[in-house]
Amino acid sequence: MAKQSIGDNFTYPMPVVMVGAVIDGSPNFMTAAWFTTLNVAPPLIGISLDKDRHTTQGVLETGQFSINLPSVGQVALADYCGLVSGRDENKAAQIDIFFGSLKSAPMVGQCPLTMECRVTQTVELPDHYFFVAEIAGVHCEETVLTDGKVDLEKLQPFVLTMPGNAYKALGEHVGNAWEIGKALQGK
Ligand SMILES: Cc1cc2nc3c(=O)[nH]c(=O)nc-3n(C[C@H](O)[C@H](O)[C@H](O)COP(=O)(O)O)c2cc1C
Repeated sequence: MAKQSIGDNFTYPMPVVMVGAVIDGSPNFMTAAWFTTLNVAPPLIGISLDKDRHTTQGVLETGQFSINLPSVGQVALADYCGLVSGRDENKAAQIDIFFGSLKSAPMVGQCPLTMECRVTQTVELPDHYFFVAEIAGVHCEETVLTDGKVDLEKLQPFVLTMPGNAYKALGEHVGNAWEIGKALQGK
């Protein structure tokens, strides 16, 4: 099929998470979409934070942060934390903050699934830091579990889509991973 060049600015749909950190002794929260799983054992995740973010300062200071997965019910809270900086407004006042085992990884009580993380590697990029971090604990509300496992139908995460800057919930089931492709194997 014929292809057309559309320049260099396409972004795949991205998970929306909220990052918690402690800056100068005070908790702060920002929204992030550049988040990924990196490794199984140990469990490592990666997140790319602009050098100018207030939150970034806290992660550099303490080597700890939290990742909080909002449900569609928290879409306004997540957007708010991505709109204003903790330098200008106390966003933490709108968060039900709790802590796990790490002292500098404040978590968002409104989010049904949260993780506390410890930085293991910091990659300096031209305008971002890419933090590789080990998950020190995952905290989950029972309401989003089925048979002890996270149930995405209950968790109801959402993604950021571009162009259009829209938040979208998960769509329909289109196949089972590591299974549907078997029909093409060996042909
Ligand atoms: C949906 C969404 C996704 C975002 N993703 C990122 C991201 O991955 N990395 C980043 O540095 N900033 C990202 N931002 C921007 C920050 O959340 C925003 O600049 C925020 O105000 C920073 O807050 P702080 O200065 O209190 O840390 C995102 C914003 C929104 C609304």
